[in-house]
Amino acid sequence: MQLTVNGQRREVAHPDEMLVWVLRDELGLTGTHYGCGIGACGSCTVLLDGQVTRACLTPASAAAGREVTTVEGLARGEQLHPVQRAFLENPLQCGWCLPGHLMSAAALLERTPNPTPAQIEEAAGINLCRCGGYNAIRRAVARAAELKREGL
Ligand code: FES
Ligand code: FES
Repeated sequence: MQLTVNGQRREVAHPDEMLVWVLRDELGLTGTHYGCGIGACGSCTVLLDGQVTRACLTPASAAAGREVTTVEGLARGEQLHPVQRAFLENPLQCGWCLPGHLMSAAALLERTPNPTPAQIEEAAGINLCRCGGYNAIRRAVARAAELKREGL
């Protein structure tokens, strides 16, 4: 089976595996993390056709014919995505949750360029941060919206 991942067609040998393992073990895209395996923590978050998706609960076969975006696909060459730059300005602690937050924030800003504090709160809250970095996460999402609106 083939998948389109970060704009590239990739051959996948185990379509019945969960997407998180196909991305990590077959395609070497280890930026997608694995935490709980039950859809609760969000560290495995990727985008399927722009929609936030838990890769630990999604068989790779469910991504066939759809555009998969992982954290490795956010930057455009050397140009970091606004969410990446915003989190560099607002660093977290261990960073385990970071890929999930980056993907959730990127999806939010794609559909809501000017998010309200409540929308930022919701986006920040769908992924767990065991280090309790929610203040930095809220600041980073707000800053990313600013950078994106300014086209930076
Ligand atoms: S590993 Fe997928 S939600 Fe936790
Ligand atoms: S920074 Fe450690 S889990 Fe979020």
